[in-house]
Amino acid sequence: MNTPIKNTALIGFGTVGQGFYHYLVENNEDKQLSEIVIKDASKNRIPENLNFTNDVQKVLNNKEINTIIELINNDQEAYKIVKEALQKGRKVVSANKKMIAYHLEELVALEQQFGGKFLYEGAVAGSIPIIKIINEHYAFDEIKQMRGILNGTSNYILTQVFEKGISYEEALFQAQEAGFAEVDSTADVGGFDALYKLLILSAHAFGKFILPEKVLNIGIENISKSDIEFAQNNRLKIKLVASAIKQNNKLVLYVLPTFVDEKNELFNVNNEYNTVEIVSNNIGSQTYIGKGAGKLPTGHVVYNDYSSLDSNKYIYKNVSSGKKLRHETNEFIWIYSNKITLVENFLEEIQLINGAKGYGKIKIKDLIKNKQLINVNKISIITLTESELNRFITDYRVDNKLLEYA
Ligand SMILES: NC(=O)c1ccc[n+]([C@@H]2O[C@H](COP(=O)([O-])OP(=O)(O)OC[C@H]3O[C@@H](n4cnc5c(N)ncnc54)[C@H](OP(=O)(O)O)[C@@H]3O)[C@@H](O)[C@H]2O)c1
Repeated sequence: MNTPIKNTALIGFGTVGQGFYHYLVENNEDKQLSEIVIKDASKNRIPENLNFTNDVQKVLNNKEINTIIELINNDQEAYKIVKEALQKGRKVVSANKKMIAYHLEELVALEQQFGGKFLYEGAVAGSIPIIKIINEHYAFDEIKQMRGILNGTSNYILTQVFEKGISYEEALFQAQEAGFAEVDSTADVGGFDALYKLLILSAHAFGKFILPEKVLNIGIENISKSDIEFAQNNRLKIKLVASAIKQNNKLVLYVLPTFVDEKNELFNVNNEYNTVEIVSNNIGSQTYIGKGAGKLPTGHVVYNDYSSLDSNKYIYKNVSSGKKLRHETNEFIWIYSNKITLVENFLEEIQLINGAKGYGKIKIKDLIKNKQLINVNKISIITLTESELNRFITDYRVDNKLLEYA
């Protein structure tokens, strides 16, 4: 009987690493695992008899190992590992969205230069194979818009707050207890995690590599009890939505809390579920929904990447057209806020609803510029899609009175 070649190393054995290992065992491929790199050698492990090490360099220097599955929770360390592995021409799978959002362009260049492979489906939208869908299903169509709920933690919190009437703090605590939210929840509730994922998808859909600092992200952390009551009294929900809209040679990107009504497909996407709606030239609108995080949903897509390393290579077919696209922040968007008066200097067509509450339109770049002011003063910012805006205007003007809550 042949001894399987131990050519694979798993780096990181936390939630996703263990999920990936589950599928390796289920498919009888765990014999190919040479080593599992972890950080803290003193921790108890299950199963305990695996080949654990905390010496990542030894693994990277081992010429027998041609495949690296990088699943650690530190983006800077992950960057060093993935970069070195690609420089050595290795096949690499990662799920580290922050690291990928910051370094994708360079890592793709290394993949091409040194003949390795780099797959990272697990970095975006959990179990929805959205990178594969964009690369393959939309290979012969032009994507014009994408929008989605890409952060399971924020969606879980908002769902609990709306459905169960519990406080934001309580819902965040529950999300942490359930394993959806990290102890440091800034990336989730600040809209950063959703932004990283949006930028990875934009590289595939539009061929544009954009750094996170350049793009507007506002999370759910400033949403107040009065915003929730306002939404409920107007039969709306608030969802954290990541949007990318291509208009001729312009690309408009943002992550923002968004009012949605029951006609909106996002209205019933709840808890840790993610969704991505893609609007393309030929197909029109198509929506994908699935579990956005967790051991087995994410482990599954990582295992799929691992299994397809020999046959699959991401194509970045839109990169040449992406060079002609300009990331546009001069566009106006409509926003509602519980403290609209604190940003009124930057707003046009402002409508006060009640006290400091109101809505108006603002340039994306002015929101980016004022993020600090917004966070220091806990100003809620909730955007209005076209249909919700029309309803705001109609309800407001037809009745010639303020919205129900006012
Ligand atoms: N959790 C999810 O649902 C999910 C979904 C999509 C993507 N991701 C991404 O997947 C990656 C892993 O997330 P996770 O939730 O599985 O994290 P996690 O549960 O916190 O586990 C992280 C693992 O990495 C190990 N580690 C940390 N730094 C290391 C280093 N410098 N060298 C070697 N090992 C190191 C830790 O070692 P110890 O065990 O010794 O502490 C631990 O085993 C992250 O990039 C995350 O953003 C997670």
